[in-house]
Order: sequence, then structure tokens, then C-alpha cells
Amino acid sequence: MAPVQYLPPGSRDKDQARHRDAPESGHVMLLPQTSQLRALHTVIRDRHASPADFTVHSRRIMRLLLETAMDRLPFERREVTTPVGRTYDGLRLASGLCGVSVVRAGESMEAELRELDPGVPIGKILIQRDRQTKRPHLFFCSLPPDIAERSVLLMEPMLATGGSLLMALDVLRQAGVNLGRSVVVNLLASPRGLTAVRTAYPEVDIVTSAIEEGLDENAFMLPGIGDFGDRYFGTDLRREK
Ligand code: PRP
Repeated sequence: MAPVQYLPPGSRDKDQARHRDAPESGHVMLLPQTSQLRALHTVIRDRHASPADFTVHSRRIMRLLLETAMDRLPFERREVTTPVGRTYDGLRLASGLCGVSVVRAGESMEAELRELDPGVPIGKILIQRDRQTKRPHLFFCSLPPDIAERSVLLMEPMLATGGSLLMALDVLRQAGVNLGRSVVVNLLASPRGLTAVRTAYPEVDIVTSAIEEGLDENAFMLPGIGDFGDRYFGTDLRREK
């Protein structure tokens, strides 16, 4: 796959960091910052984006993220016979797959995952940040009973302080999930959030499309995208016309 790229926390030379392979980045995979990807980000980061534009362009990025995340899962050999009678030495996923979305924002990735794998089971973990303290609270969890035997794609578009994702990973760990064959699918990540998750769960892969400069005093990412859940689901009452 494409080289691993990582913007180190606190880096002031963003362009240099963005174009540098960083072996110390461990399991953080930043999608190649192609012109197309940056154009998609330009649409969804625009505060004037229409709800339709926001949804369509977000989903195009999610497709790229999910395809990349699936490439990080374990595969095993699988031979098939082609229509002309030859053997193709191929691969298939080594274990069953399961999607898990961190509700609410993670639900935005479910439809794209179902496009890639129509029968995939999808678990849900409802976590909400307290609006004042920004600390996460777990309200609800529903996972397939055989999730411990499956590889998991954990869908969490926003990684700000990292509190929500850490809580979701703890839920999966307690459910017996092998986090070493699980991948976090993420749209935007802050350096602080990445550091928090990599420190607590170094075995987990994180695929992201953007690493942000930091957080503001309200724990929103900068330059950021605002409240992704509100914008994607059309509940942002402050949206400007
Ligand atoms: C937002 C976002 C993430 C979380 C990230 O969720 O969707 O789940 O915050 O922040 P953190 O890394 O600091 O924990 P929120 O609780 O606002 O709910 P929402 O998904 O309904 O918008």
C-alpha cells in the first residue's frame, strides 16, 4: 500500500512532515494526500457546503478509507479455477468481518461498508461527549455474539481528544475482540487523539484521511470540519445559508 505518512504532534513544518515517511508512526496510515482527496476535503470543510454536497463528498472519502482499512486486515491463501481452467493463486479474508460504528458519527460509514460487503454484521456503540466537560459517556452497546472471532472495522470519523475512541476500544477489548486484527476507520484526527490511542492501544491500526493542527478550547479540531455528526445528519441549526 502507499507509504505510511504521519504528521508528528507539535510539528511546525507541516509540509515537510506530510511528505516524509515516518517509521516511528507505527500503525497510523494517512491516505495519500492526492489532489482529488484534497478537493473532496475542500468541499466538506467549507462552512457553506450544502447538506447534499457534504454527504456525497464525505461518502467518497469514506469509501477510500474503508478500501484502505480492508487492505490492513489479515488474509489467507485461496485458490480458484478460472473459466479457462487455470488456477489463480488468490487470497481471501482470514476471518469473518464485522463493522462497529461509534454512534452517532460512525453510522455515516455504515452504508459505504455495506456497499463493499453487503452481508457484513454491524455493531453499535453509543458514546456521547459531555458538552461541557468533553468527557465521553457510554450509553448503549450492541455487538454480534461472535465478534471475538471476527476482524473489526471500528468506524469513528472524528478523533479529537481521543476519549470516545478509547472508550469504544475498551468496549471491544472487553468483548474479546483481537484488536491486533482490527482497524479504526477515521476521517479527521488530532495529534493529541492519535497519541492517546497509540499509547493505550499500540496494536491497533488507524486509517485516516487528515491529521489536523490541533484542538481549540472547545475540543474541536483545527482547521477542522465542525461537528461532523450534526453536519452529516442535518441537525446543525447554526448552519449558515
Ligand atoms: C464527537 C465525534 C466523536 C467524538 C470525538 O461525538 O463524533 O465521536 O466527538 O471527540 P473525542 O475524541 O474528544 O472523544 P459527539 O459526542 O459530539 O456525538 P455525535 O457523534 O452525535 O456528534
